[in-house]
Amino acid sequence: MNTNQLPKEEFVFGVASAAFQIEGAAREDGKGESIWDVMTHEPGKTKRGNTGDITCDHYHRYREDVRLMAQLGVTGYRFSVSWSRVLPNGTGEVNRAGIDFYSNLIDELLQNGIQPYLTLYHWDLPQKLFEKGGWLNPDAPEWFYEYARLIGQRFGDRVRYFITLNEPNNVIEGMTQGGGNAPALAYTVKDRLTAIHNLLKAHGRAVQALRETVPGALIGMAPCSAVPCPIDTDLETVEQARKRYFATAPNDLLGSVTLYSDPIFLGDYPKEYYEYYRGLHPEITPEDRKLISTPVDFCYQNIYVGFPLDRDGKVPDIALPENMLSWPIWPEALYWGPKFLYERYQKPIIITENGLPNADNLCKDAKAHDPERIDFVRRYTQQLFLARAEGVDIRGYFYWSILDNLEWELGFGPRFGLIHVDFHTLKRTPKDSYYDYQKLIQEYRKP
Ligand code: BGC
Repeated sequence: MNTNQLPKEEFVFGVASAAFQIEGAAREDGKGESIWDVMTHEPGKTKRGNTGDITCDHYHRYREDVRLMAQLGVTGYRFSVSWSRVLPNGTGEVNRAGIDFYSNLIDELLQNGIQPYLTLYHWDLPQKLFEKGGWLNPDAPEWFYEYARLIGQRFGDRVRYFITLNEPNNVIEGMTQGGGNAPALAYTVKDRLTAIHNLLKAHGRAVQALRETVPGALIGMAPCSAVPCPIDTDLETVEQARKRYFATAPNDLLGSVTLYSDPIFLGDYPKEYYEYYRGLHPEITPEDRKLISTPVDFCYQNIYVGFPLDRDGKVPDIALPENMLSWPIWPEALYWGPKFLYERYQKPIIITENGLPNADNLCKDAKAHDPERIDFVRRYTQQLFLARAEGVDIRGYFYWSILDNLEWELGFGPRFGLIHVDFHTLKRTPKDSYYDYQKLIQEYRKP
């Protein structure tokens, strides 16, 4: 479809990143350690022993990076604050240099016409808090409240958009046997359910802290989901996909949409939660439910993966197109995902992450040619615009990521960036997809 037909108001094209993956300066200027700083230094925990010590060195090069974003034409930049950079112990003493860094970054963005979308927690729990039990500690929601208040007080004069937690599902993944995310330790189901509940309460406390400190704040949480897409538009097939998307399956603490989003938008965990985890889940009081469902403004969602589903609720036995991490590529995910979410939760949607990993290299002509990524972004956004044209209230799309960066425990191999980073020289080279995304944004803006 012709994207020029879309209503123009209030749609943000952005790019996203996370502190640990791009900043580097891991032990500079008074920053405290996070669980990722510690884990990436443990032998065998990351591919090739890659760490976040330097990564893209964004901490020192943020001006250059913002300039590249401005040239790209994005109007939003989603980044995360490293909790232990501003509060080295997680609570208490504030690190002035950390505050200054984010303050300068925000100023730089605004001077370039780019709205900051600030994520409070993108997995890098301060090590000091982990040593006190981390998300299992009943005080964790209060720690998060203190941190969110600080962020609101220091940056709320310039930042309007906030994301409380990035993918709580993946925080829990770090608490499973063989889970690659930090702390990569095996916790019992009971403990994981406690951690989920504390994360959701922490989300609620952060919403309250931001409401108290930032008039007009726009807030949400950003879980991720894989979207079952009906292979035809028969009502029955669509219903199968919808059912699968919102199913609460036993022992699925990672992939579930409802487990993380129902308590926020609908005021309680799905009823299956209470059946499957009887005797295992923590006590859930009416006050907890109220806190967790403190009203938010957006349904943010990270969507990379989709897969087809037939009218019998089965994935057809075909080889699905995949990316280098074996995640199925199915652009309709950005049509059905927002549609289903909007129907169920009735909040404006922003896609806070979507992107393609590749082993992009600089070619003989010193450029990074990445036709797969151009095709990926074009086809996924086309589906998103289709849903929007049909009335789904979609307010934005953030490509993950602006720069090639540290893909967590997988190291520097999978490159998601629109901009190639040479991890030896730290030189930035916009890829072909950068120029195509620039074109896409311009096409959209044309009168
Ligand atoms: C995370 C990012 C990550 C990306 C690609 C998301 O799960 O929020 O930090 O790099 O997906 O794996």
